[in-house]
Amino acid sequence: MVDFKRTLITTALPYANGPIHIGHLAGVYVPADIYARYLRLKNEDVVLIGGSDEHGVPITLKAKNEGITPQDVVDKFHTIIKESFKKFGISFDVYSRTSADIHHKTASEFFKKLYDEGKFMEKTSEQYYDEENKQFLADRYITGTCPKCSFEKAYGDQCESCGTSLSPTELINPTSMISGNKPVLKETKHWYLPLDQYEPWLKEWILEGHKEWKSNVYGQCKSWIDSGLMPRAVTRDLDWGVPVPIEEVDGKVLYVWFDAPIGYISATKELTPEWEKYWKDPETRMLHFIGKDNIVFHCIIFPSMLKAEGTYILPENVPANEFLNLEGDKISTSRNWAVWLHEYLEDFPGKEDVLKYVLTANAPETKDNDFTWKDFQTRNNNELVAVLGNFVNRALVLTNKYYGGEVPGRGELTENDKQTLKEIGVLKTEVEKSLDSFRIRESLKNAMDLARLGNKYLADEEPWKVVKTDEERVKTIMNICLQVTANLTIILEPFLPFSMEKLRGFLNIEKQGWDILGNVDLIAVGHKVNKPELLFEKIEDKVIEDQLQKLLDTKKANELAGAKAAPAKENILFDDFGKMDIRVGTIWEAEKVAKTKKLLKLKIDTGIDQRIVVSGIAEYYQPEDLVGKQVSILVNLEPKKLRGIESQGMILCAENADGSLSIVSPDQEVKPGSEVR
Ligand code: 2FM
Ligand code: ZN
Repeated sequence: MVDFKRTLITTALPYANGPIHIGHLAGVYVPADIYARYLRLKNEDVVLIGGSDEHGVPITLKAKNEGITPQDVVDKFHTIIKESFKKFGISFDVYSRTSADIHHKTASEFFKKLYDEGKFMEKTSEQYYDEENKQFLADRYITGTCPKCSFEKAYGDQCESCGTSLSPTELINPTSMISGNKPVLKETKHWYLPLDQYEPWLKEWILEGHKEWKSNVYGQCKSWIDSGLMPRAVTRDLDWGVPVPIEEVDGKVLYVWFDAPIGYISATKELTPEWEKYWKDPETRMLHFIGKDNIVFHCIIFPSMLKAEGTYILPENVPANEFLNLEGDKISTSRNWAVWLHEYLEDFPGKEDVLKYVLTANAPETKDNDFTWKDFQTRNNNELVAVLGNFVNRALVLTNKYYGGEVPGRGELTENDKQTLKEIGVLKTEVEKSLDSFRIRESLKNAMDLARLGNKYLADEEPWKVVKTDEERVKTIMNICLQVTANLTIILEPFLPFSMEKLRGFLNIEKQGWDILGNVDLIAVGHKVNKPELLFEKIEDKVIEDQLQKLLDTKKANELAGAKAAPAKENILFDDFGKMDIRVGTIWEAEKVAKTKKLLKLKIDTGIDQRIVVSGIAEYYQPEDLVGKQVSILVNLEPKKLRGIESQGMILCAENADGSLSIVSPDQEVKPGSEVR
């Protein structure tokens, strides 16, 4: 076992084509931040690396759809992401981006070295090409019929209906998702990393050497390796990304998953000229914090790239998390089903730690978990307010009340006193054990146990009663409460950094290191504490209801957007159509039909006559706005009595997905009586 001198923590680089949501936070950034803060508190040499992943096809498509450049897209989201991470308190030592020059240079050199040393295979193959857009198509951008189950909207890499993984040429009736045209096959040359050659080494390194990895991570690796690895293309035909650094090669870039993890190296270079000690010294421990969808890239592909390069260290652990759902549904950027970090920060100013707490307490470490606003409220009100806030508040308020804020000394200790003080050290060890094995959720529980301990101690000792009979004893009780409070500022620092800073302010103490945690004389007799404010405040039902309403609105909007147009009716003969006499008429008079919400009585000049039509459009049009408007009217419809008025014909309307109506009118004025055919 190596005695590591320093730790390099990388966090998955988020794609800069959308903002950050709670799923990203819970899976990657919150646990990584907690771990980094913990190591810093222990005075260890640690760097926390982050940045935006700014390449890849989805970004080019987003740019195309919006009529802007890919650089515009990533500039916008990189700024939003970086800013919200900063406000939320993710303590990156550097937050870089893959469109930066330093990254292009680093990724380019990395590829070039492997290329020069003959580590790649070159292969020409036929791939689908969109002739209209003059570009090769990524597998995801080809749809067609699944050869296995006949599902018509299968993707070029996978059928989402039957789950089969496919290659684009297997699709029946392939269609380019970019132009909607049928793509053609065209020859193209690419460079491949022969993963098959690394298989024996990967088996040894992971399956034998890293049995301690989380079971979800180890299991995924084993299943990939057991099913046999294949060479992987590391270049793409695209004009957005790091250009392939080979002369005579044009219009090709490094595959986004080749350049993105190299982004960790470039970011470290941006951080410090001593970057090599973090990447090349075997006494550095490298950890990748990622979500489960990134496991293969961080455990198999990137390590194989590093191994091929030969001068870099390999990850020591990859504590990947499962996914967080939101109110029972998968978080989805495209369906806007998410709690966005930048919106949370606006809606809940000063409550960064609350979200961090809830996401940690409910972290999807071993299985997918669900975030609900109700749970958010409960954990805030019942844990942060009722346990932690309540304890420290009572400790400080009573000290101010009895001693004007001056820390009293301890007298002789009871068993409960000794036990309570001893327990601080026990909890410290528990937190360390769970944090060091990346059971972050458990470590938070262990740390919060110190606040629970404090509450229990106060409830047992009841200083507010004892003060009436034994003033000396109360001094001991309050001293112990203050020692517990001071220890809380250390044990909870990695988890609740903003709140612990506040608490240190109340206690009037400086930030202290992890090594001193467990010390029962953290706060000196005679030291003066301040009057406290509330550390956490209750979250009322209304606030939660508003958030739930926001989600409900999203759901409704999605339903509307997804509402399917009615299927086409059966074919009819032209004669059948010819039987309908549709004319353009002009509305002369319009009024509401009394005692109805929906009906308007319209007098219409049809060119043939003037007639009365009753129409159900009152919710969408004001009578006065209709006078003079031209409409299409079916004039040979059997007359029908509506609310005692004979309606002689029907106005044609288009019905929106939400049921609202819009009158179908000619787009230029025509003579009343003109036929519609
Ligand atoms: O899955 C993702 O969001 C990727 N952008 C993660 C990249 S991690 C690393 F390789 F940069
Ligand atoms: Zn299928």
